[in-house]
Amino acid sequence: MRTRIKEILEQGADSINCSFSGWVRSVRASKEVCFIILNDGSSVDGIQVVADSALPCFNDICRVGTGAALAVEGTLVTSPASGQKWELAARSIEIIGSADASYPLQKKRHSFEYLRTISHLRPRTNTFGALFRLRSRLAQAVHRFFSENNFLYVHTPIITASDCEGAGELFRVSTLDAADPPALDGAVDFSQDFFGQKTGLTVSGQLEGELFALAFGDIYTFGPTFRAENSNTARHASEFWMIEPEMAFATLADDADLAEKFVRYLCRFALNECAEDMAFFDKHIETGLIERIARVANADFVRMEYSEAIERLQRSGTTFAYPVEWGLDLQTEHERYITEQIVGGPAFIINYPRDIKAFYMRQNEDGRTVAAMDLLVPKVGEIIGGSQREERLDRLERRMGEMGIAKEPLWWYLDSRRWGSCPHAGFGLGFERLVMYLSGMENIRDVIPFPRTPRHCEF
Ligand code: 4AD
Ligand code: MG
Repeated sequence: MRTRIKEILEQGADSINCSFSGWVRSVRASKEVCFIILNDGSSVDGIQVVADSALPCFNDICRVGTGAALAVEGTLVTSPASGQKWELAARSIEIIGSADASYPLQKKRHSFEYLRTISHLRPRTNTFGALFRLRSRLAQAVHRFFSENNFLYVHTPIITASDCEGAGELFRVSTLDAADPPALDGAVDFSQDFFGQKTGLTVSGQLEGELFALAFGDIYTFGPTFRAENSNTARHASEFWMIEPEMAFATLADDADLAEKFVRYLCRFALNECAEDMAFFDKHIETGLIERIARVANADFVRMEYSEAIERLQRSGTTFAYPVEWGLDLQTEHERYITEQIVGGPAFIINYPRDIKAFYMRQNEDGRTVAAMDLLVPKVGEIIGGSQREERLDRLERRMGEMGIAKEPLWWYLDSRRWGSCPHAGFGLGFERLVMYLSGMENIRDVIPFPRTPRHCEF
């Protein structure tokens, strides 16, 4: 049975027998002895394996390439050299899978740009090892948080007939012959498509989530989300994961309370339960990261009206590339200025102009804003978007009419306002943006295993 290297590094004891399997990170050989650093993905640190010339396979071991897969067996001993507490005095070494000099990860450091071109191999590097361990643990922490708070986990559909955000960013799902689709009155006849109508990949599980909130009270979804948005930025992906809680009998203030509690929980989780990987990011990716996250874990998040945010941006004396004016959406540069320069920490911007927000948001009494909230954080900008929902049928129908949204395909959504409607609210947290925020990584392509962005879909 192989032991995980992390386990032994944490709770090793002198003279115990161990077997490890992993991949070679480096080899240093002399006539008498050969040192191999073996990493099995369980921690940033590998184990130093010491092979002495008495081993029958010594010559082969000295020539083993970086990247090769080995199974080693031996005795754990206190390392006489600095840099590691333990090392393994090898009794046997088996080369399971060789690697020659063409293995691309020979150097100690490679640029993230280069590593993106070999996303099939980058999990074998220290940075991506730490990153994908953090990502995995955070995904589990999300479920733990909602389970501890009695939220029901609902699997909302991935194939859908509704464009929740109404932004027209749906990827089409179709089995029609693209070269020769059936036509009706000069347009494609989607009634002949697989589902008998036009369908796409979901941009959000919210609308279906609302239906479940109106039965179970508190629910959440956590799944892949797709947007055919042609924006090539460091924070947009065409496929990303989103966490969407929805609470019945809740207002915008309750929604912000939940978001704040959730984000702080995840910060604390990363610091406490992923300490080794967080220390790696602090050292190699962003100096001061741990202190920054620790501050957020304990801070109260500022809540600022959209109107105030606009005024303060206008008064800042800063020249922005995009205009700042009441009624216009905030761009990343504005978001970052607010959270980095004005607030110096996470900030909720609430009550946005209704004309820049989706149809389902609850209309405020002023007739020009909706009960929306975005959570902005330093470095990343928007990490959460949410709102209280319009629960009043007449108001909702009127708004859909004004926005030119057809009621008939959303008959089921309107039904939820017909029977047992109640104030309810929810939000969406972009999982990749969260991972960026907690790791200090600056490009969304580097926090998702196989990124999908415009004109890029490898494998
Ligand atoms: O603000 P958004 O579009 O809100 C919704 O989809 C709502 N239906 C959520 C809800 O109320 N249940 O998206 C929510 C979050 C954003 O704040 C951002 O973190 C992330 O999803 N996001 C993206 N992440 C990566 N790439 C993209 N293209 C993203 N678009 C949104
Ligand atoms: Mg948004």
